Amino acid sequence: MTGLPILDIAGLSKSYGAVKAVNGVDLQVHRGEICGLIGPNGSGKSTFFDCSSGLTRPNSGTVKLDGQEITGWSLNRIAREGRMLRSFQKTVTFGALNVEENLVIAGQMFTFPSIAATFGIGARSRARIDGLRERARELIRISGLWEVRNQPAGNLSGGQQKLIQFASMLMPEPKLILLDEPMAGINPKLIERVVDSVRYANDQLGVSFLIIEHNIDVIISLCRRVVVLDQGRKLAEGTPSEIVDNQAVREAYLGG
Ligand SMILES: Nc1ncnc2c1ncn2[C@@H]1O[C@H](COP(=O)(O)OP(=O)(O)O)[C@@H](O)[C@H]1O
Ligand SMILES: [Mg+2]
Repeated sequence: MTGLPILDIAGLSKSYGAVKAVNGVDLQVHRGEICGLIGPNGSGKSTFFDCSSGLTRPNSGTVKLDGQEITGWSLNRIAREGRMLRSFQKTVTFGALNVEENLVIAGQMFTFPSIAATFGIGARSRARIDGLRERARELIRISGLWEVRNQPAGNLSGGQQKLIQFASMLMPEPKLILLDEPMAGINPKLIERVVDSVRYANDQLGVSFLIIEHNIDVIISLCRRVVVLDQGRKLAEGTPSEIVDNQAVREAYLGG
């Protein structure tokens, strides 16, 4: 974990009326790291993601991705050129398409330059689609979705759709993924699968992560470093055990 951080955010602030949702936050994600972002409801975690990923413009502060300043770039440009993707709390899949089609389309959206290429017209674009199919099958296997790969995504459980969404995000070979509460509303067995998928993406595909998650066991098992927000400000930063032992964090978030 040497060299430039993959994500380097300084002095980020965003207000909604009188509410300082994010208030002067500095945060770095090191290359190859899985970093946790925790804090009580309303502490500004999702707004921090909104401002970092180009969904919302911050009032002030800078966002650097892989050494390049991207403050003010749109969500799409950050995804395509910066190769930083984010998930939302709500899961989105193409319900009428099967699992493999969902993944191939996710890959096409980011990597194909033209309509002709998207529809596989021409030998080169057909070869690229074959490449995407191969990557999709690998990710489907890793995600434990092999048995259901030919079923429409809309027929699968909420947890399985989360796995599809996560695998879809890996299709365009991102450098960094921001996950907003990936474990919310899914059963313990599937939580383990999502944890395994995140680990695989980190170890084998070299993807760095910043993860908002209320399930503290998941944070402890995945992250070596955790940042805590409270009322829009950074309250603490450290290893999971430092965070769990931190009195201010216990009072603000962990229930004493
Ligand atoms: N689009 C918005 N309009 C108005 N207020 C917002 C908006 N988004 C977030 N907020 C407010 O900003 C604060 C932080 O919210 P949020 O970032 O969603 O926190 P968290 O994700 O930590 O629960 C809250 O007080 C919330 O009501
Ligand atoms: Mg939130």
